[in-house]
Amino acid sequence: MADKGRFPHYMIKEIFDQPQGLRDTIQPRVSLEQGIVKLDEVRISPEELRDLRRISIVASGTSRHAGMAGQYMIQELTNIPVDVDYASEFEYRNPLIGRGELTIVITQSGETADTTAAQREARAKGSRTIAISNVVDSTIAREADGVIYTNAGPEISIASTKAFTAQMAVLFLFALYLGQVREKLSKEQVRRYIRELLDLPGRVETVLQSAPECERLGDKYHTVEDFLFLGRAIHYPIAMDGALKLKEVSYIHAEGYPTGETKHGPNALIDESLPVVIIATCDRNDPGSVLRYEKNLANIKGFKEQSGRVIATNDFYSRSSGAAFAHSRDRAAAAVRVLHDSAKRAGRGSPAQPGKVGNVGVGPPSWVSDLLHPIKTAEVPRRLRI
Ligand code: F6R
Repeated sequence: MADKGRFPHYMIKEIFDQPQGLRDTIQPRVSLEQGIVKLDEVRISPEELRDLRRISIVASGTSRHAGMAGQYMIQELTNIPVDVDYASEFEYRNPLIGRGELTIVITQSGETADTTAAQREARAKGSRTIAISNVVDSTIAREADGVIYTNAGPEISIASTKAFTAQMAVLFLFALYLGQVREKLSKEQVRRYIRELLDLPGRVETVLQSAPECERLGDKYHTVEDFLFLGRAIHYPIAMDGALKLKEVSYIHAEGYPTGETKHGPNALIDESLPVVIIATCDRNDPGSVLRYEKNLANIKGFKEQSGRVIATNDFYSRSSGAAFAHSRDRAAAAVRVLHDSAKRAGRGSPAQPGKVGNVGVGPPSWVSDLLHPIKTAEVPRRLRI
């Protein structure tokens, strides 16, 4: 039986449940000593997994955003091409899938009608299916060939939070497992990723320390009508989910975009009335991450020049290494749950479920550290000094 414990509502409790949800999802499935990921529940033979030609991921809402992040993970670690579909659109595009392929169905509840229908469509076409479900023995879990449960615990709040981070952890584990079965990864590589995964819950705990700062930022931005959420590479689906959370939790309009796409249209809208939330973490040891970071800085500079207001996530490590946002280090915040509370105070009405803080994800190589490092969200001063 779920219990709010010391928290005023389920959503904030579930946000703070994330470290434990990640621990329970990751720990039983890895052996650091042996350098292996154990996923017996996949129930598809190693021979079949070795011969897979293509993977489709189908899901709805937040679960689909986790699937988009999973696409980066699986392609990077296995070289298998991965498509991601909206479950509600899957049947309309006559998906050309069949034998020798795998469809991964992601769902918190395991009962979403669109996702169930997509799973049945995939099975009817001869594809093998694996469900990633948070609810044991749900319809989708029962109908799949294999099921990997997210052990996030019951998610009562409408807005999906701890299930989302646990879904991404499962996708990372599955990508590692496939890479291991297909002999794309050495034991040492797998061990390195396992180490990072085992560190993740502690890092999320660090991020959650930003909660009071989030509230301050929410107070400042609560009257704003529209937000743009931006991210590059695997941060793009995370930005999409940030925008979705803001919409459903605060009734504030928000869009998620790939950062590089802003110059192809949305730039025209960026001014004082459209704050930009940009994911801009950096791993100094990863050239891909550094390049994206530099591009992000150039974007931020451009937004500031056109009077944009920018809230950027930066990570603790690049901050302490003297990166560009060092001067704003004490003004950190992740601004979503707070916007809900503030919007309520401003008389916008009360959403069905109270709000949440932004999410943190996981992912591998050229962007792995972008996500595995603790992040902090900082307001970029009006005059950007870089
Ligand atoms: C967003 C949210 C929804 C669900 C979507 C799919 O916070 O909760 O977008 O992610 O309705 O639900 P599941 O994952 O249960 O299939």
